[in-house]
Amino acid sequence: MQLFRSSLIVALGLVTFTLAAQTPKAAPAHKTTTVSASDQAALTPPMGWNSWNYFAGKVTDQDIRGAADQIVASGMKDAGYVYINIDDTWEGQRDANGVLHTNSKFPDMKALADYVHSKGLKLGIYSSPGPKTCAGFEASLGHELQDAQLYASWGIDYLKYDLCSFIPAVMMKQAPNDKAAQMKLMIGAYEKMHQALKSTGRPIVYSLCQYGWDSVWEWGPSVGANLWRATDDIQPNWNSIYTLLNEQQGLAKYAAPGHWNDPDMLEVGNGKLSLGENRVHFSMWAMLAAPLLAGNDLPNMKPEIKAILTNSDVIAIDQDKLGHEATHIYSDGEVDVWARHLSGGALAVAVLNAGSDKTSNHPFHLDLAKLGLHGAQKGKNLWTGKDVELTQNMPIEIPDHDILLVRIAAPK
Ligand code: GAL
Repeated sequence: MQLFRSSLIVALGLVTFTLAAQTPKAAPAHKTTTVSASDQAALTPPMGWNSWNYFAGKVTDQDIRGAADQIVASGMKDAGYVYINIDDTWEGQRDANGVLHTNSKFPDMKALADYVHSKGLKLGIYSSPGPKTCAGFEASLGHELQDAQLYASWGIDYLKYDLCSFIPAVMMKQAPNDKAAQMKLMIGAYEKMHQALKSTGRPIVYSLCQYGWDSVWEWGPSVGANLWRATDDIQPNWNSIYTLLNEQQGLAKYAAPGHWNDPDMLEVGNGKLSLGENRVHFSMWAMLAAPLLAGNDLPNMKPEIKAILTNSDVIAIDQDKLGHEATHIYSDGEVDVWARHLSGGALAVAVLNAGSDKTSNHPFHLDLAKLGLHGAQKGKNLWTGKDVELTQNMPIEIPDHDILLVRIAAPK
């Protein structure tokens, strides 16, 4: 899918990201927003699990049931993970009346939804505004209302709507040489499904997946989006995670209760990520107020991965009710410092060592003044659970690809 999209991007000249090149030094002014009915579905970033990052096209009904069982058994449900989301490849064919059926991997979606709900969890599903999904399965073009009603009848609680084939089938076909018209068509398609979902009367979290095109963070809330992918697909490796993280610079002011920037689903526990890299990934997604959708093999989750995914102090940063996303404050060599304002006047500070050993940052000296802090600051190290005191220019030893995450309850 990556290839499919990349070649289209080149063909269309559709490189429309407007990520700020400059990094904000202070917390940005947040937009004052009123909380609409659709915002209510995601007043804090959605938390759960999605099938794609581990199962991709192989996912079955049994895998989804297994994930639901494990979310409960592992304590992840108690830690806040609620959505069990089926990604691409559940779709079958439409019948003579246009009603979409599931394929043989998902024999009875209503029964599956009932099962997931019986565990106190919610069920998510996936489609595309084009004729086909990214994996080439049947999608919603021309059947938006019918599909929304079908989802509601099954008891679906979350929809990820992935642009994919809408690009060649509609945007390129109807407006081959007009980028502005293509973007209008795209926004119209997302609004169409928004209205369709709204008309069902069922609260359904609406997750846009169009890779950040046309500064989606600016118009996402106007089409009812609770979250929007701000990036291309994540991969379970350091380069991907660190790249996506840095693409978030400049987007903080667009996050607020009800609608969130989505730097893509978690890869914690996947690939060959080291424990430090998993900690950086989870910490920084929490700092970014990102949706926390785990994507690992839950039945075979190692205890140290479970400990990361269920760290309640880190989750509390992500779920902080103010909904202020972290900003990058400064970098020194390969060490980055980010900060996030929290409710009650608290501050979360992340010091991340992205070291590739090209530059030596051992030890790193933290400049509290750059964070607007004066004098010694008492805080809690959220990965050791221990109290810490941060002082001006104190030497801090952070291994490469690891992080110091501190919550300062009363910053001075
Ligand atoms: C991609 C999307 C992935 C996954 C995949 C399914 O476009 O970014 O997260 O949903 O499609 O085919």
